[in-house]
Amino acid sequence: MSVLPAMAPGAGAERTARRRRYLMCRPDHFAVTYSINPWMDPLAGADAVKAVAQWEALRSAYLALGHEVELIDPIEGLPDMVFAANGALVVGGRVYGARFTHPERHAEGPAYSQWLRKNGYSEVLDAQHTNEGEGDFLTLDHMILAGTGFRTEIAAHQEAQEFLGRPVVTLQLVDPRFYHLDTALFPLGGGNVAYFPGAFSPGSRAVLERLFPDAILAGERDAAVLGLNAVCDGRNVVINAEAVELIETLRGRGYDPVPVDLSELRKAGGGPKCCTLELR
Ligand code: ARG
Repeated sequence: MSVLPAMAPGAGAERTARRRRYLMCRPDHFAVTYSINPWMDPLAGADAVKAVAQWEALRSAYLALGHEVELIDPIEGLPDMVFAANGALVVGGRVYGARFTHPERHAEGPAYSQWLRKNGYSEVLDAQHTNEGEGDFLTLDHMILAGTGFRTEIAAHQEAQEFLGRPVVTLQLVDPRFYHLDTALFPLGGGNVAYFPGAFSPGSRAVLERLFPDAILAGERDAAVLGLNAVCDGRNVVINAEAVELIETLRGRGYDPVPVDLSELRKAGGGPKCCTLELR
């Protein structure tokens, strides 16, 4: 009789990728000219040419994985418009429009809503409450996880739940470096997530432990390079290359990491997920 060696949880599991449709915005007008999160230093600035090259590599990575990428025209004077995730929340063909916290980004909400209306989405809600789209709303099969504490208001969680007809679970963010939920957590598919516990209040950590007992937990070092700002299609994980430990953990759990360098965009506090709005 042979005794098989115990497998690590999740190891060897068959991960299945699903083809996605993303909306992106070329960072032609990218710059760090104001500071609305701790990553942004207007004195240090950022290099738009370098940002465009890194962003092009991200777009190519999605195309190489077989995903579709739609493009919205960048608008001069909106340096953060590259962060398409903040532009809306699109679930089941319905669009919950963004309403930005900071005046510097106010004009982006209508720009994204207008693009979505023009591209076949007729059910677009102009939100009453402040919310920054997929920056703070992450969609799983059976629920939506929603961040609050820095940008999106809890009232917006309720508004989104009512409009989309999906359960929305509120999570409290407590560390200003992780000011959007998508800087601290990403969905892995199959009802699981990866996250950095230190970004959440004790109560929200307990909620995450209860909902996701099999979650991948990331450490401070990987979180601090925005390693949690990743995009998973069910198998492939497009992730900042500097998140070395998290990349190894993902590999060990049967995912295929696709490392990218978005160091220039990180100067504005963004990573792969920030640049990517999923159209569902
Ligand atoms: N500078 C932008 C801001 O502070 C970065 C947004 C990043 N987007 C995201 N989905 N986390 O609003």
